[in-house]
Amino acid sequence: MAIRKIVVQGEPLLTKKCRQVTEFNQRLHVLLDDMRETLEEAQGAGLAAPQVGILRRAVIVADDDNGVMELINPEIISQEGEQAGPEGCLSVPGKWGMVTRPERVKIRAQDRFGSWFEAEGEGLTARCFCHEIEHLDGRLYVEHIDHFLTEEELEAFYAEQEEE
Ligand code: CO
Repeated sequence: MAIRKIVVQGEPLLTKKCRQVTEFNQRLHVLLDDMRETLEEAQGAGLAAPQVGILRRAVIVADDDNGVMELINPEIISQEGEQAGPEGCLSVPGKWGMVTRPERVKIRAQDRFGSWFEAEGEGLTARCFCHEIEHLDGRLYVEHIDHFLTEEELEAFYAEQEEE
């Protein structure tokens, strides 16, 4: 396994639409293993293949219940509710913005061997599903925000969360 370099906003790669994964081979497995290690090192919640320079539809999402989930050719099949919260991205380092996302999201994806499965996420996992899948279409969360949060705004959000 190896830690890969994370591409940051401004690189044209991040605005490209990624192609479907069609071969579930060793090369894909190495990519996924490297993405796991890269995510762990960066202490992020999710990572999409284009963020390490690979224009293929593969993402990983760290989930409290399921560990790291690997989603190949993922699609959102249903969504419900709404949540607003701070969102960040390893490709937009050190910044946060308030983004409204569905509260619950159901996805369909393939595993590293090509088998289709469905998964549901809520809260942060639902947010992460949406964020990572957007990366595959060359989109970043910053398109949803009107400004980056200041430290004060971020602190105020978390203080409010704690009171609830
Ligand atoms: Co991101």
